[in-house]
Amino acid sequence: MIRSPASTSLSRQKLAIAMVGLPARGKTYLARKLSRYLSWIGQRPAVFNVGHYRRLRFGAGQRSSFFDPADPAGSAARAQVAEEALDDACAWLRGEGTVAIYDATNTTRERRATIARRLEGEGHRVVFVESICHDPAIVEANVRATKLESPDYEGVDPDEAVRDFRARLSLYERAYEPIDEDALRFIKIIDLGRDVVLHRIEGYLPSRIVYFLLNVHAQPRTIWLTRHGQSASNLHHRIGGDASLTRLGAQYAGNLRTFYDEQWRLHGEIAVWTSTLRRTIETARDLPVDAVAWRALDEIDAGVCDGMTYEEIRVSMASEAEARAKDKFRYRYPRGESYQDLIERLEPVILELERIRTPLLIVSHQAVARVLYGYLMELAPEASPFHDVPLHTVVELQSQPTMTTERRHALGPRVDLPHKFRASP
Ligand code: SIN
Repeated sequence: MIRSPASTSLSRQKLAIAMVGLPARGKTYLARKLSRYLSWIGQRPAVFNVGHYRRLRFGAGQRSSFFDPADPAGSAARAQVAEEALDDACAWLRGEGTVAIYDATNTTRERRATIARRLEGEGHRVVFVESICHDPAIVEANVRATKLESPDYEGVDPDEAVRDFRARLSLYERAYEPIDEDALRFIKIIDLGRDVVLHRIEGYLPSRIVYFLLNVHAQPRTIWLTRHGQSASNLHHRIGGDASLTRLGAQYAGNLRTFYDEQWRLHGEIAVWTSTLRRTIETARDLPVDAVAWRALDEIDAGVCDGMTYEEIRVSMASEAEARAKDKFRYRYPRGESYQDLIERLEPVILELERIRTPLLIVSHQAVARVLYGYLMELAPEASPFHDVPLHTVVELQSQPTMTTERRHALGPRVDLPHKFRASP
């Protein structure tokens, strides 16, 4: 039976998100963040950025006159790349994709009507996300942080780049019609989340998107990830459990305190989160703040294998060891969890990570730290089991609007084990 778009049930519809807003309003930043979040909650999103298509087709060096609606050649060229990106978004949704994010200005009613007609005509649900900035400081910060670093202005004198970009902006401002069409579903984000307006938003995925957008901000901040100090289970190569720290683990807790004090002098107060397990709480016990203990940060649940060594699992549960080796991301310990399950469990932590603006130290466990590292570094969820997060090391991640940089601090003491003994949840 061929379903007509009208008879397709809402829950089976794929989702197209079309960004709206003047340049330098953080649309691309929001699109990227949204795409990462959606991939971490099991969707298959892709971003179709019209500026990228323009640069591919016409080169990066276009000056403001190219964006003048009164210039027929520029208008035709821009319409062409907008159409190409939309074609690709439709193709993505016809294939494996579940969400397409169409990242363009889409500042006129006519343009939005075209987008809605095309995507709804193919049976997809369309949600427009408009980013409005009333606060000139946000726009200015955005111009400095992103536009001047864009390939559009590579090699251009910064003053000339700002002048040209402002000319481009004023051309867009003349034609801009903020979204108010009653027939469309939309989310308006004002000043990067200070106010949010919703219109005809319903359903599971759009509601989660709203919740995510409510928490997102673009303020640079630092997050430090560490595992707990060495525990008695680490020492005996046993996974899971709720053991206390060893003597070396306690030494790490002391080193972490020194590190924390140094960072405090640079950054001011640093919030601390731990899991509810003894080894993370003991690691953070000497820090001069009250740590928040999250159950969601507890180590991956090894189910019936909790307390076993990998050697014991290999000998007595060979088929489990094999299944795990084949697909470490999806492998679920009997009556326990997989990495995929862990990602789901960590969603509230991820939302809180997005919301929080102060520097933050997270003391957790190997699998949890791997997942959080992957999320913050914008890596694929499936790669999570393979990130290297050694004991007695702090991973420092500094997020900026366009990228996250990483630095590692090996605080010691060294607890390297021969590879064959390494427990690797
Ligand atoms: C661009 O070419 O940079 C964006 C085009 C647009 O969406 O208006």
